[in-house]
Amino acid sequence: MCGIFGYVGTRRNAGEIVVEGLKRLEYRGYDSWGVACKEQNGSVSVNKDIGRIGTVDGSGFCQDCALAVAHTRWATHGGVTQLNAHPHLSCDGTIAVVHNGIVENYLEIKRELKAKGHTFLSETDTEVIPHLIEEKYKETGDFAAAVRTACLHFTGRYAVLALHTESNTLVAARTGSPLIVGVEREGLENRATEIGKSQVPSPACPAKLGERNRESRVPHQSYFIASDIPAFLPFTKTVQYLDDGEMVVTDGHSIIFSDIETGEERPKREIGITWSVEQAEKGDFDHYMLKEIMDQKESVARAVNQDETQIMTLAQAIRNAQGTFLVGCGTAGKACMAAEYFFSVVAEHHVNFCAASEFKVYHHFLKPASLLIVVSQSGETADVLEAMEVAKRKGSKVLAIVNVEGSTIAREADYTLLIRAGPERAVASTKALTGQLAALLLIAYALGDRLQEGKTLLLETSAQISDMLNPRYVERLSKLAEDMKDREDLYIIGKSWNYPMAMESAIKIQEVSYVHAEGFAGGELKHGPIALIEEGTPCIALMGKDEVQMDILSNAMELKARGAWIIGVSPERFEVFDEWIKVPDAGVAQAIVNIIPIQVLAYFLAVKRGKDPDMPRNLAKSVTVK
Ligand code: F6R
Repeated sequence: MCGIFGYVGTRRNAGEIVVEGLKRLEYRGYDSWGVACKEQNGSVSVNKDIGRIGTVDGSGFCQDCALAVAHTRWATHGGVTQLNAHPHLSCDGTIAVVHNGIVENYLEIKRELKAKGHTFLSETDTEVIPHLIEEKYKETGDFAAAVRTACLHFTGRYAVLALHTESNTLVAARTGSPLIVGVEREGLENRATEIGKSQVPSPACPAKLGERNRESRVPHQSYFIASDIPAFLPFTKTVQYLDDGEMVVTDGHSIIFSDIETGEERPKREIGITWSVEQAEKGDFDHYMLKEIMDQKESVARAVNQDETQIMTLAQAIRNAQGTFLVGCGTAGKACMAAEYFFSVVAEHHVNFCAASEFKVYHHFLKPASLLIVVSQSGETADVLEAMEVAKRKGSKVLAIVNVEGSTIAREADYTLLIRAGPERAVASTKALTGQLAALLLIAYALGDRLQEGKTLLLETSAQISDMLNPRYVERLSKLAEDMKDREDLYIIGKSWNYPMAMESAIKIQEVSYVHAEGFAGGELKHGPIALIEEGTPCIALMGKDEVQMDILSNAMELKARGAWIIGVSPERFEVFDEWIKVPDAGVAQAIVNIIPIQVLAYFLAVKRGKDPDMPRNLAKSVTVK
């Protein structure tokens, strides 16, 4: 849930580099931030504060600086204070550490370190890390070895990045939270090619890094170590992924990857990533959320234009499986839930949805012949990774549908399908959801031996979305948000695939505007929730021209009879609607188009209520803790 970024290399403005990178990682956590730089005199300077990094200018943090680490925090242990913000330092001030995740046994380690005379300034679990490394370094004089042995003491899922002034090195280690290295070679052309095709080994390392008193070697290339690629995207598209249980050490001259447990070196290939800097920036839009909603004019088509042989292979895996489970969290979970209907209607095939956080109880159902389909934008969500572990323990195969190429989930699955929505930076997931829905529907069509029909439908839907998201339409939703912005409760109903979309609508509205919103299956209203309806309560009905159209219309009438203000999201107008949000008739793909006006509405509700839709309170983009 936190953002980590570090730099070592030939550039002399490391403070500025990490601060600017941190701004691109701020979606991961934004309650406080901090930077540590190695000064010319060898000391460490630290700047940190509570709140967002916003317009902070890192160029003044240190002069002529080539080694720095930085962090944007989403608090878990210890409140949001300046002292609790990372980086944390060792007693002698030569080691600075930033950290994502949780050191579960920190209290015990802290007790032992205090007994040895270490002083602690914060309430965080993180602060034990620099002190334990310092203790280990006293024993060996080898910084990388000190980090490794310290890591062997920690329990929990984490990513750690440590800076050491004496050896001028960065050492990073991960056991659950993502870490990616960006490689920028001076004067050499970028040697990596498309993902999966490159096999460029890391430069050989002539000597162990991090040894005490060795002569500092002059960096001849730049290495960036970050929680996510956008941090270093302006500098390089050549990346190396750390896998769980691995660590990396670099001094800007060489780089070594190794196994934390055994200390053995690990060969690591370089991969060229395809995202562009422009895709990751918000351009002329006020917020990433609106930009990403608009990206759906193209992103749905990218999810659909997949290699057909691969789609048929995935469909075959589902056909052959004895039991298929679909898991995801939050918005991605709603895509999975909608897919239950897709597989039923399009392929007459039974699949089971389960929220990833609940899945471990389902292990009794799993067999080696079972299939787990996991859906995740980030590819790093802890609950999804846990579901994968559960399935793997039972020998079941895992198919991952992800957005972030090279993410942990993408790499650990048996089959991976990328939805290629491009970087999603706003905390609220929008274009990833429609990409996930499109990919799942395409697979359902392939399973029903109607791949071309599905592809045609989805590409037509993509064109309809492009037409729909015109300025007049967006303006109309902005006006509706203005009329709604002071209401504190809002309900959304749907049936069939519009039921998970009603739940997703509620998530979108809750998380960015803080309006109390709930999504229901229309038919469930009369079993309880209808008691909530008062004169003027806004209720949104999501509809399509389908076999359940009349059912949901009846539910809307039941609400209207109790005084509700009915907003119909539907291809057709009905008398019961007080407001009609017209959507194209997309047939089986209706869920994909129906959610889009709600995303726009949620965005404007947030803006008109004075909230920042990109960084909602209490939330972070990538949930790497359980
Ligand atoms: C809501 C939202 C979250 C994510 C959920 C799963 O807008 O973004 O509910 O969908 O945290 O994240 P991923 O898809 O990265 O696994």
